[in-house]
Amino acid sequence: MNNKLLPVFSLCFLGTLSMFSAKAQSHDVQTIANHSVKTQSPFTDTQIAAKCDSLIKLMTVEEKVGMIHGNSSFTSAGVPHLGIPELVTSDGPHGVRVEHGRGWSELKNYPDSGTYLPVGVCLASTWNPSLGFAFGSVLGSEANARGKDVILGPGINIMRSPLNGRNFEYESEDPYLISKMVVGYVKGVQSQDVAACVKHYAANNQETRRDFEDVQMSERALREIYLPGFKAAIQDGGAYTLMGAYNKFRGQWCAQNDYLLNQILKKEWGFKGAVISDWGAIHSTSQGMWNGSDLEMGTDLGQHPIDYSKFYMGDTVARLVKTGKMPEYLVDEKVKRILYVMYKTNLIGGATRKKGEYNTKGHEQTAEKVAEEGIVLLKNENKILPLTSNVKSVAVIGFNADRKQSMGGGSSQVRAFYEITPLQGIKTLVGDKVNITYTKGYNIARNAGPDQALIDEAVAAAKKADVAIIVGGWTHGYDYSVWDDNAYDAEGTDKPNMDMPFGQNELIKAVEAANPRTVVVLMGGGPIDMTQWVDQTKGLIQAWYPGMEGGTALAKILFGQANPSGKLPVTFPKTLQDAPAIKLGEYPGNNTTVNYFDGIYVGYRYFDTYKVAPQFEFGHGLSYTNFTYSDLQVKPGANTATVTFTVKNTGSMAGAEVAQLYVKQEKLNLPRPEKELKGFDKVFLQPGEAKRITLTLNEGAFQYFNDKTNKWEMDPGAFDFLVGSSSRDIRLTGKATL
Ligand code: BGC
Repeated sequence: MNNKLLPVFSLCFLGTLSMFSAKAQSHDVQTIANHSVKTQSPFTDTQIAAKCDSLIKLMTVEEKVGMIHGNSSFTSAGVPHLGIPELVTSDGPHGVRVEHGRGWSELKNYPDSGTYLPVGVCLASTWNPSLGFAFGSVLGSEANARGKDVILGPGINIMRSPLNGRNFEYESEDPYLISKMVVGYVKGVQSQDVAACVKHYAANNQETRRDFEDVQMSERALREIYLPGFKAAIQDGGAYTLMGAYNKFRGQWCAQNDYLLNQILKKEWGFKGAVISDWGAIHSTSQGMWNGSDLEMGTDLGQHPIDYSKFYMGDTVARLVKTGKMPEYLVDEKVKRILYVMYKTNLIGGATRKKGEYNTKGHEQTAEKVAEEGIVLLKNENKILPLTSNVKSVAVIGFNADRKQSMGGGSSQVRAFYEITPLQGIKTLVGDKVNITYTKGYNIARNAGPDQALIDEAVAAAKKADVAIIVGGWTHGYDYSVWDDNAYDAEGTDKPNMDMPFGQNELIKAVEAANPRTVVVLMGGGPIDMTQWVDQTKGLIQAWYPGMEGGTALAKILFGQANPSGKLPVTFPKTLQDAPAIKLGEYPGNNTTVNYFDGIYVGYRYFDTYKVAPQFEFGHGLSYTNFTYSDLQVKPGANTATVTFTVKNTGSMAGAEVAQLYVKQEKLNLPRPEKELKGFDKVFLQPGEAKRITLTLNEGAFQYFNDKTNKWEMDPGAFDFLVGSSSRDIRLTGKATL
């Protein structure tokens, strides 16, 4: 929601405060292995349905209506005399948001500093689904400890345009990678008796005019690109809730969109949980009620203070039902879905609910692990990295090196229990052995260009040091409390272009000229135009926003105590003009509509098919060791295939490789992308160790959505199986006719 619209009033959320402050200091060790995936509720879905029906029979119309719209900034009403509590939600998606109590301003002096996990795109860069589960478990556990029932995450919108201000919260341009990562995340959250809320459904791929832009795309693009992540979150992850997005889809607002919610989500996919509207995304009582939304959340509708009963799914609904103008079953169905979520999370039903934990050592370790596996080594010429014991002095340069990011970006803000910046991480790791200087290099301020005095200072420091490390890139709003048009990676606004802000091009070029042993570390939610200097740069790292232990993980990677294994989940184009949303499609559209003429050609599907060279390709990421691939076997089955190959660590350092499998159909009836990711496996190998990897592809891996027949189809014929270390570093090729 837009902060500027929010009234300033808040009530202390006393219920959770006392419980929570005791937890805030605890440091119990909790390992990933302790988390259990099994369904927590002791009841079957049939039993839950019967219990819900009995409860609903005991409720008045007013009580039911109270449950289907917000009654404070993040809660909806319960029915106390029936033992039904309020449903308490919170953002999400990489930590539990700062506390707002019942209002819209942050509570002062509330002990809400918690675990700040790496952002979504960093999690996806690990290509490690078990870390998705670990991540979700931490989030669910902390949410539970803070008294929350629903965590508003994961965010899984497709990264269509490099400029989307919220790309940092999302995961990838590729539906397959998202589908694999999201399942663990959802199961992890829900293993802690907290509901995940997968968002923003659907086609919310830009922040520009997000409140009203009408997205038009082909059915094929919808089915092949924009929906699979959501489907996996619901069907494979079992997400209990889903958030309807702000934008319109084919003329109807997403949070009240019959096709998306009733037809696809509920009928086709069999979703049993509750659809929660994005905050203020319901625009009409009748469409809200009839088209599939179950809970209307919102901001202030321009009233101060807010009268929540005036929400579209508030008093009006009770009046319509009582006067016979709306059937009561419509309300009952929504209440039943909300009660279902409550039973599944053991909020009601009598089973013991997990208590959750806050700021444990285990949570911090998970944050570090995700950062370590999510940071991507993009370039490493002349093996400039890792830095060895010969390096006696380092000039750390750049505002981002010493900048905390946790409170940036909008609704995903987290007050971190602590946040290790890159500079701090480096000092802690090697400060006793290496002489470390720090200069700012550039200023973060509105329209700030190069600052010659800061550049001169950085150049002088770089000349004196063995190695210069510049930490720059994008940043969140330059004042933590500001998330408006001045911010880059932020909700509610897109980036104006892909150019490096704050005169960083000039800084990097000057420092590289002064010291050829320069490593550039980029933070941010996605690509930046680095064409002015990247060809000269020897060492380049993409660090995203790596969470509270990001500085520790980065320092370990720089100095060789950790071996990088992250891979890009999104293509880095050379320039903005190369991006398919801009080249083929429309972005950001006109004042009413954005046409996705780019269709299925999102990310590498475009770059590969249209033969455009990216700056760094999808799936790219280097290691300090080397991996060889050998002995590919493809065994075709009945419209399936089993692909087996060996990966060996031939270097001298232990490391992990993400082996990727792409499929290409040789002869096409309908145009298809050059190749598509259909399998991957991350293997951890000691020096000299080899592992045989088996990837099984079912019929879905070979199908496409035929717009003409409106069906998933497979054209029999020859398929190529491309196995490699990235989408453009294919090491083995096999063939099979299916
Ligand atoms: C955002 C959601 C968020 C909600 C509640 C909205 O503005 O789009 O992602 O969960 O606010 O803070």
